[in-house]
Amino acid sequence: MATSLRTPSFSSCSSSSTDPDDEGVRGTCEDASMCKRFAVSLGYWHDPYIQHFVRLSKERKAPEINRGYFARVHGVSQLIKAFLRKTECHCQILNLGAGMDTTFWRLKDEDLLPSKYFEVDFPMIVTRKLHSIKVKPFLSQPIIELHSEDPLQNDGHLLDSKRYAIIGADLRDLPELEEKLKKCNMNPQSFLLCCLILHIRETEKPLWPCPASSFPSQVNMDDRFGQIMIENLRRRQCDLAGVETCKSLESQKERLLSNGWETASAVDMMELYSRLPQAEVSRIESLEFLDEMELLEQLMQHYCLCWATKGGHALGLKEITY
Ligand SMILES: C[S@@+](CC[C@H](N)C(=O)[O-])C[C@H]1O[C@@H](n2cnc3c(N)ncnc32)[C@H](O)[C@@H]1O
Repeated sequence: MATSLRTPSFSSCSSSSTDPDDEGVRGTCEDASMCKRFAVSLGYWHDPYIQHFVRLSKERKAPEINRGYFARVHGVSQLIKAFLRKTECHCQILNLGAGMDTTFWRLKDEDLLPSKYFEVDFPMIVTRKLHSIKVKPFLSQPIIELHSEDPLQNDGHLLDSKRYAIIGADLRDLPELEEKLKKCNMNPQSFLLCCLILHIRETEKPLWPCPASSFPSQVNMDDRFGQIMIENLRRRQCDLAGVETCKSLESQKERLLSNGWETASAVDMMELYSRLPQAEVSRIESLEFLDEMELLEQLMQHYCLCWATKGGHALGLKEITY
């Protein structure tokens, strides 16, 4: 049922994804958003929106976690901006497993929005995010401002507006996802950057024949540290599907190339961290003392940022980097 954002029918939410087996997976949304909220509260990066989606945790997060999130947010943001500049914003961005991510609002503030920005997560997570958007004008105003006069499409698990759509769907159910993306007018002809920030149960195939894609995820999972990470995730009922492809940067790239991408790049987060602008690194490293540099290195060497491109040679899409 289509309703306006101002009068959405949140009461009609019957979630198809209340599967208790997915509870641990959905919990990663809470983890990621609380870690980001905490790091932002300490000044790691500027994000005036995250506080409207998630409360500040009483529990301190370790400095290595805060630095890890800083590197991740910075790396993905640079990659997205490189893509937007190359395409002069005539493109779409698809954020898979978006959780409480605030990139849409931050890009709008920088006047760097794509033609349309899509987010996908489990219906239960989307319902929660939509509720925050509905009750907080600071979040809803930017969406309404960019919309035309037509009523916004909103059914509690999905909101579709001119420049922003959020879709409740299970990423493992590709036909359902494709149908919902079509319903929200995703243009398969337009350049598309997919961001997949999943820790667990990754999909093994690209979901859409998009010209460019970024996949931050795990790597080096067959060493001792990687095995401990997998065991910890299992204890929380999170199985890392597709773990075979998480062996090395090479296997991550191979996964993309064997699925039809023309170029694939991958960098572990420690490498990415070491190439961040030095002034920014000095600034964030002065925020908190870290005595276990080795732990940060181990953690970061088990996450990577991968991206792949298809087409867009004339625009130089294959050269985009973080
Ligand atoms: C690690 S969190 C990252 C959240 C967000 N991208 C961020 O960086 O803050 C992974 C997200 O993927 C979502 N997710 C995992 N598996 C999914 C699936 N099969 N279908 C839809 N969403 C999924 C989770 O609910 C969660 O919000």
